[in-house]
Amino acid sequence: MRKHPSLHEHGPANFGGLLLALCAMGLTTACTDRMDSSDDRFSRSGELIAMSGGEGGARYACGTCHGVRGEGNGFDAPRLAGLPAGYLQKQMEDYATGLRPHEVMRDVARFLDSHERVRVANHYAALPPQALSPVTDETIAAATPRLYARACQQCHGVDGVGTANGPPLNAQPAFYLIQQLQDWQVSKRRNDGNHVMLKVAQELKPEEVRQLSLYLAGIPPRPASPVR
Ligand code: HEC
Ligand code: HEC
Repeated sequence: MRKHPSLHEHGPANFGGLLLALCAMGLTTACTDRMDSSDDRFSRSGELIAMSGGEGGARYACGTCHGVRGEGNGFDAPRLAGLPAGYLQKQMEDYATGLRPHEVMRDVARFLDSHERVRVANHYAALPPQALSPVTDETIAAATPRLYARACQQCHGVDGVGTANGPPLNAQPAFYLIQQLQDWQVSKRRNDGNHVMLKVAQELKPEEVRQLSLYLAGIPPRPASPVR
């Protein structure tokens, strides 16, 4: 057997258990050297990672929190379906390094190697954009779409569908959007290259953060701009 340092670091019990189970089931190829973890890891598709959580096991299965179709949970876990692959992959890298601090997503990302992060990002990018319908009885002030057009649209596109300079924001849960803007305001999230979002967010008043987030959450999902 070759050595797999990261396997030993992260999930020997889990993977070993799976292997044992496969052996017990008589799937003997799983017991041979040929199907060692690096081969397995290499062949694991983005969809399989989304369903199984990769080496981290079931509790890190993306669908548990992000929905089986990548639609998000309408609360703190954003939709992933239809977001640009490059953006998704960058977030996974940023979670893994801690540049975007989040305990759960840090562990999720660290259980995947860089190939797997690319594959799972491609998987979600290729899914049709969908989201849970937002539930809110709050009125969006007429000034909010105007504020969006003035301060955000240049990078996040008309109706928040995203551009090459900023990810889609439409149909993301309002709670999630508020959280991100607040994280930037206190410089907790600081993974945008030139700190554009830090500056933008710090200029927003609390009521504007809430209004912009509700407004964007209420715009139905649509295909993002083809620029990836
Ligand atoms: C236990 C719940 C949970 C699991 C499992 C989970 N996530 Fe997340 N994910 C979250 C939460 C909560 C956030 C928001 C974190 C934050 O505020 O930064 C998030 C954020 C993200 C983001 C950032 C999206 C954006 O718009 O910036 C990506 C990408 C992501 N997750 C991908 C994945 C992938 C891929 C998997 C599976 C390999 C996964 N997640 C598994 C809860 C989860
Ligand atoms: C100059 C370009 C630019 C402008 C203007 C801008 N953004 Fe952003 N925004 C970005 C970039 C780039 C990112 C992604 C950063 C990263 O890689 O994590 C981002 C990310 C975000 C996110 C996180 C999305 C997610 O899925 O986690 C939110 C929320 C957001 N912006 C809201 C806004 C709002 C609201 C405005 C206007 C008040 C605004 N942005 C203006 C460039 C911009």
